[in-house]
Amino acid sequence: MAAGLASFVVIANRLPVDRVFNPDGSTTWRTSPGGLVSALEPVMRRKGGAWIGWHGAPDERLRPFEHDGIRLVPVRLSTQDVIDYYEGFSNATLWPLYHDVVAPPQFHREWWDAYVSVNQRFAKAAARVAKRGATVWVQDYQLQLVPAMLRELRPDLQIGFFLHIPFPPTELFQQLPWRRQILEGLIGADLVGFQLPGAAQNFTRLVRDRVGHKTQRGTVSLPDGRTVVARAFPISIDAKSFEELARSTEVETRAAEIRSSLGSPKTVLLGIDRLDYTKGLYRRLRAFGELIREGSLSVEDAVFVQVATPSRERVDQYRLLREDVDRLVGGINADVGRIGSQPITYLHASYPREEMAALYRAADVMVVTPLRDGMNLVAKEYVACRYDDRGALVLSEFAGAAAELKQAYQVNPYDINGMKATILEAVRAPERESSRRMRSMRRTVLDHDIDAWAQSFISALSQR
Ligand code: F6P
Repeated sequence: MAAGLASFVVIANRLPVDRVFNPDGSTTWRTSPGGLVSALEPVMRRKGGAWIGWHGAPDERLRPFEHDGIRLVPVRLSTQDVIDYYEGFSNATLWPLYHDVVAPPQFHREWWDAYVSVNQRFAKAAARVAKRGATVWVQDYQLQLVPAMLRELRPDLQIGFFLHIPFPPTELFQQLPWRRQILEGLIGADLVGFQLPGAAQNFTRLVRDRVGHKTQRGTVSLPDGRTVVARAFPISIDAKSFEELARSTEVETRAAEIRSSLGSPKTVLLGIDRLDYTKGLYRRLRAFGELIREGSLSVEDAVFVQVATPSRERVDQYRLLREDVDRLVGGINADVGRIGSQPITYLHASYPREEMAALYRAADVMVVTPLRDGMNLVAKEYVACRYDDRGALVLSEFAGAAAELKQAYQVNPYDINGMKATILEAVRAPERESSRRMRSMRRTVLDHDIDAWAQSFISALSQR
């Protein structure tokens, strides 16, 4: 069994695979499209890695298996765990709390109990598969208690944690009845990574004020002599492979097809988001609707394609948002549409990477206006696909990506008039101006890709 132990372990709420149901009734697994797994694949292979996570089906117990050279260790979640730990504490308490309370977070003690017990299950699974002295990298807000739980079980391990979403301002975090436990969970790690330096500062300040540990800059000193470092590691995408895909004949052909089926308008605007209330879809579409209504953009010349990927559909706030957006889009299209030209093409669907790349290629203006977002990888994907240096990115100041993509047309998504003016500026920008901005953003995205991100985290962890 020792040969089966892993020296590099990733723990995430989900396994990096999706189940495929074949026509003959058999099932197989397909690696999910996210960048994280491809970035970690080489180190997983080299070091004999394992990935611990939920496989997505409630109540099903699966044995560890191998896929594409990576060992996958499924963690079981019961139907009740999905309700209390995943939909409840993770996505109706922490998610809104960490995203500036743009929806009211709900605090329920039974959700917290489930969060503790599921975190404990993940920690135990990691303690079983990790080799002596192994490196373990815990991912995201669903598993913030795992670092301390795992350290308790296996003090020999080197533990890193990365938060993919924002870490809230201290005033908001303090609403959480279990604030101290979460902070104590995180300081079980040797290195705690955030998207932005401000998040790391919020965290260390809370550790000092709420837990009472000494902190100096990003370093927390614990009474037993151990130290914890908190730092920013802004995540990125597999930029080269997006660009390669965008350059393929298939994608270029599909992009041309998309434009022509939209009626070959002068300007295609695009939004691609999970259907989540943090993404600012409603205000963005309102802004566009007003531009058409007022005649600043004409329905013959401009089309907005909004892809909204279904997400967390059993959580109330997500259901409400879907109804609101459906109604808004229906209203705008009915009021200002013409036969053969609808101002908004609204697609409640999820698409493979090839189709996303074709949409990015087809779009003159990409509109990314979250109310709060840890990073927003769609903004970076758009930039990676614009190898011709054309196209404009309208980007919310409140997306983590805004710190790096300074040449985007930045907006405050709460300011509808400001957003309208900036969208118009992007639509009307002279080509030279857009190219200048795009070239500079492309350098940033291509230099700081997902490999650079993973390597910098892993090397900072190994130096601890
Ligand atoms: O941004 C946080 C995140 O958890 C991503 O890692 C994930 O792709 C997305 O939200 C959707 O999450 P899920 O469907 O697992 O709730």
